[in-house]
Amino acid sequence: MAGNWKLNKLVGEAVDTVEALKSLVAGVTDKDIVVCPTFTALQSVGKALEGSNIQLGAQNCYTKESGAFTGEISPQMLKDVGCTWTIIGHSERRQYFGESDELLNEKLKFALASGLKVMFCVGETLEERESGKMNEVLSRQMINGLAGLSTEDFANISVAYEPIWAIGTGVTASPEQAEEAHAFVRGIVADKFGSDVADALRIQYGGSVKPGNAAELMAKPNVDGALVGGAALDAESFAEIVNACA
Ligand code: PGA
Repeated sequence: MAGNWKLNKLVGEAVDTVEALKSLVAGVTDKDIVVCPTFTALQSVGKALEGSNIQLGAQNCYTKESGAFTGEISPQMLKDVGCTWTIIGHSERRQYFGESDELLNEKLKFALASGLKVMFCVGETLEERESGKMNEVLSRQMINGLAGLSTEDFANISVAYEPIWAIGTGVTASPEQAEEAHAFVRGIVADKFGSDVADALRIQYGGSVKPGNAAELMAKPNVDGALVGGAALDAESFAEIVNACA
């Protein structure tokens, strides 16, 4: 159950949010809970989370440890401030920053090799869905994105299915639509990496998850968690979503 805060919250606001969240989810022992603040808030949020059951994640990272790569952040730097997770391949990175499947594959492999766990995002646009290309797009993103991984790597990966038409729009995929896409994604992993890996893989749903719709989405057999944007900015609403996942 992860919150992707995107480009939101100054450091003080970020710390206030996790201070509130800590007590709201203190009793949760059966789920991984992750918050992904902006880079500038990671260190302070990481300190605030010490000793809690909430893990720290970044929203992106680069393919190199250090060097002349102006503006980039390495997995080693993320670990240095307490991150155990990073998101890779969010549709906003693909759309607005032109990140290709090949670059994302490099990022994924380097983050894993550096000891981070990765939430790897895939998802189709409305146009792709309506023109019957959803499966083709998901296959391409999954096969190219996960190319070259070993079965062991999957212990540190979760896949997030995030239909682009449902992100930040208030339009959620129906539980049936989410289930269909998740089953398809799991099938791709089974084909390429075997059914043991596929069965154990956690597939999160993302796209307008709210306290009011989380339970019915999470009730689907192939929906194992959520990646939450807007509704994760508020500690109470994110805690409600965390608690909705059985
Ligand atoms: P949303 O964003 O919950 O605001 O739709 C989800 C995401 O982009 O991860």
